[in-house]
Amino acid sequence: MKYKNKQFFIENLSAEKIAKKFGTPAYVYSYEKIRNNILNFKKNFNTINPLICFSVKSNSNLKILNLINKFNLGADVVSKGELTIALKAKIKPDKIVFSGVGKTLDELKFAINKKILLINTESENEIVEIEKIARKNNRKVNIGIRFNPDTDAKTLKNISTGKKENKFGLTKNKFLEILDKYKHSKFINIICLSVHIGSQITNHVPYKNMLLIINKLIEKSKYNFEYIDLGGGMGIQYEKNSNKLNYIKYKNLIKSFLKKNNSKIIFEPGRSIVGDAGYLISKIIYIKSTNSKNFVILDSAMNDLLRPALYGAKHRILPAKLNKKKILKKHEFVGPICETTDKFLKVPKYQKLNQGDTVIICDVGAYGMVLSSNYNMRPKPAEILVNKDLAKVIKKRQKLSSII
Ligand code: LLP
Repeated sequence: MKYKNKQFFIENLSAEKIAKKFGTPAYVYSYEKIRNNILNFKKNFNTINPLICFSVKSNSNLKILNLINKFNLGADVVSKGELTIALKAKIKPDKIVFSGVGKTLDELKFAINKKILLINTESENEIVEIEKIARKNNRKVNIGIRFNPDTDAKTLKNISTGKKENKFGLTKNKFLEILDKYKHSKFINIICLSVHIGSQITNHVPYKNMLLIINKLIEKSKYNFEYIDLGGGMGIQYEKNSNKLNYIKYKNLIKSFLKKNNSKIIFEPGRSIVGDAGYLISKIIYIKSTNSKNFVILDSAMNDLLRPALYGAKHRILPAKLNKKKILKKHEFVGPICETTDKFLKVPKYQKLNQGDTVIICDVGAYGMVLSSNYNMRPKPAEILVNKDLAKVIKKRQKLSSII
């Protein structure tokens, strides 16, 4: 699908051409894919008319956020930095939600001052601080309370958030206690119940369980939440033939939930909007052949893309140019960093590769560039946005001098 005349294409430009023009490693995003993902998301959920707040933590490039705004999405932010860049991208404050277990006083004041839609609180201590600020400003501040439903999201352990052993949200009893205590506050307006059980969820059943539990909680609270924020987590297909979340099933579950609850749904998708729209274009520095395998040493490393090293995540790696020569030997794609975990993928066979060839690491639009670092004093890669025949630098490659 992506190959034309044996060349890998991102929209109308070959990966080789992009690599030549902008150098490697480079994160390259497809405008069309982002647009299609947004339109597809909206279409699938249109009958429940949700407020879709893009999770800025997944990709916080300003130009990508401009795109998000162009398609009328709001933002889910988790820091003053993310809130600042979302506002800079002209995302309207009344479409911004602020999540996170440890917002500082400075961050709370900033968010309150910007009059965002709501702050999703995760502890009573945080509510106390918000109330103090609100009282000082003689204002009523909108908040959500995050509930921890103790639901297994059936995803990677390190990206599960909705189990009781995770630091996120409040247990049922604490939730009800806080609701009771603050529902008549003069300075706090509890308008939302929020929940987020994890990321890269590919089966609707964890969502089903979560909705059942929330439903019970709402019944028990006898409180009418204006918003129910269901978080993000919608999984994508990283590997061929792997599962991906069935939006229709999820939507139908929400629809029946809404029959009993008169609330507006908020979603906070990140990965499902940008994940498969990003590619990390890399070059082969060397191929080191041993008896048992070929190490394909790339010019990108774990500092550029941390997911494989951090979570054991698998990202497909495709050649920029197809050939017919199969090498029936294990290939391990690695980076040049002095760490054993600096490896991307192991495959039983691969086509013949040569030093200097270009390869494409797929599905890195979410949690790719945002997790990059300068480890080993490596400057961060450039970011490029491709729209049809046009490729534009949306963030320059970091200069070595800027990190010294
Ligand atoms: N809302 C909240 C409260 C979240 O904590 C997250 C992700 C999202 C929304 C967006 O989730 P998404 O739709 O993107 O799955 N670095 C990890 C993922 C960490 C996700 C953290 N929270 C990775 O690379 O897989």
